[in-house]
Amino acid sequence: MNDQVTIFDTTLRDGEQAPGASMTIPEKVRLAGQLADLGVDVIEAGFPISSPAQRKAVRRIIDETSGSTVCALSRTREDDVRAAGEALEGGDDTRIHTFVATSDVHIGAKFDDDRFGATLAEKREAIVQMARDAVQQARTYTDDVEFSAEDAGRTDRGFLREIVRAAIEAGATTVNIPDTTGYCTPDEYAALFETVRESLDNPGGVTFSTHCHDDLGLATANSLAGVRAGARQIECTINGIGERAGNAALEEVVMALDVRADALGVSTGINTELLTETSQMVSVCSGFPVQPNKAIVGKNAFSHEAGIHQHGVLKERETYEIMRAEDVGQDVEQIRLGRHSGRHGLFDRLDKLGIDVPEGQKEAVYQKFTELADQKKEIFEADLHRLVKTPDVHTVTTHYELDRMKASVETEQEPAAFARVRHRRDGLTRSAHATGDGPVDALYRAIDHAVDEAHSLIDFTIHAESEGADALGEVSVVISNGANHFSGEAVSPDVLRASAEAYIDALNHMAAFHADEESRQFVSDGIMEAFG
Ligand code: KIV
Ligand code: ZN
Repeated sequence: MNDQVTIFDTTLRDGEQAPGASMTIPEKVRLAGQLADLGVDVIEAGFPISSPAQRKAVRRIIDETSGSTVCALSRTREDDVRAAGEALEGGDDTRIHTFVATSDVHIGAKFDDDRFGATLAEKREAIVQMARDAVQQARTYTDDVEFSAEDAGRTDRGFLREIVRAAIEAGATTVNIPDTTGYCTPDEYAALFETVRESLDNPGGVTFSTHCHDDLGLATANSLAGVRAGARQIECTINGIGERAGNAALEEVVMALDVRADALGVSTGINTELLTETSQMVSVCSGFPVQPNKAIVGKNAFSHEAGIHQHGVLKERETYEIMRAEDVGQDVEQIRLGRHSGRHGLFDRLDKLGIDVPEGQKEAVYQKFTELADQKKEIFEADLHRLVKTPDVHTVTTHYELDRMKASVETEQEPAAFARVRHRRDGLTRSAHATGDGPVDALYRAIDHAVDEAHSLIDFTIHAESEGADALGEVSVVISNGANHFSGEAVSPDVLRASAEAYIDALNHMAAFHADEESRQFVSDGIMEAFG
């Protein structure tokens, strides 16, 4: 049996049917080009009868894409098949995909009109005839015709065998057995292929195809089960988008076949290095973000934060990775630093950034890192630079220590704050409440009352360091005692906290200056006395 599986991408048809995922024609054309570069064998470009925009999209894809078969969908109705055939006209490599519902529940709902017959048996007979006619008509446009028995997963097995046989006799070259409602378990889905294939005298020359929806989260597993049972085409979408819970995700089935070639024994022609880029394009065009933990293409799919995992991966990548990030187009180095990271992860990253931390300072740097990681979800490169650059505030003579602070902002209310400051020289703590023009102003007034040392605020600046909503806020403050200026700085993901600490830092510099002045005065007074 052929060991190459045809990848049939239906992102632009079934994927676009996802509620809210509709794409513009230029977006579809761009994506079709990307899918062709990715190495997709068949691109299902649209459903031409359904709207003029669908027809236009298929036409433009035919005109502007090369390297993949371009497919158009139709029901088993004459005007549908004609619309598909006309939309594909002039294409070098085209396929018509025609489908009809075959399960009793679908037949009951869609063919209840008596013109299809009065009994279920009569309706089934009419449906088989429709399938035959549609396939024959499609063959007048192209030699490549696919037939799908919609809701095959819940179709009577005998009827499924009958309609598949009729479609092949009429000229179908691919037979798709969709689990339209995502109902089957992998064993059941595999059995469908076995039962259909066994019933045919000579299925050679016909390709069987999977088409799995993900209502029970089984779409990928079912597609692989279909391949094990002889299917040689997988229908799938990028990021698994599609009706309801979506379709089998292309990136998942392709990488499962690649990584587990030992178990599945088949391959695809997909250029896997383009998977992540393609996923991101589909995400932008469809407006559906990719969840961080999405297999293969999610932001976290190759990231390691836990210390034990980081240590393992840095030592031997295969400890926690079954495929290489670069093989699917993800960044190679994805040691993410956060509260679960250990020393190996931290110092390896610092080393890669060219930051050399002397052995004797490593523990202090690691302690500062863990303190910061407790406040921030993720530590970025800018955070690391700051971490190693920031002098240890506790080495500066500390006169005032911020013991507690609170700031509140409510609609219709003046911003209010509370500060409790420890005076290290006399061991007392002083507290104060204040209001202000904003939370920082209120906080600074509360600190002023609690410190009670004359000064004025000359300058206050704040800017975001690093990335994300929890980025570090860097605050710089300048105060004056009338004759001299004193500056203070602080960094924290909590900007109010950084503002308060920068202010206290400036006050400490001023207090240290005054203390120095006092001691200079004391010494000179003593000298004068000695000579006096
Ligand atoms: O899910 C389905 O059955 C389909 C058919 C049109 C193949 O999308
Ligand atoms: Zn579908």
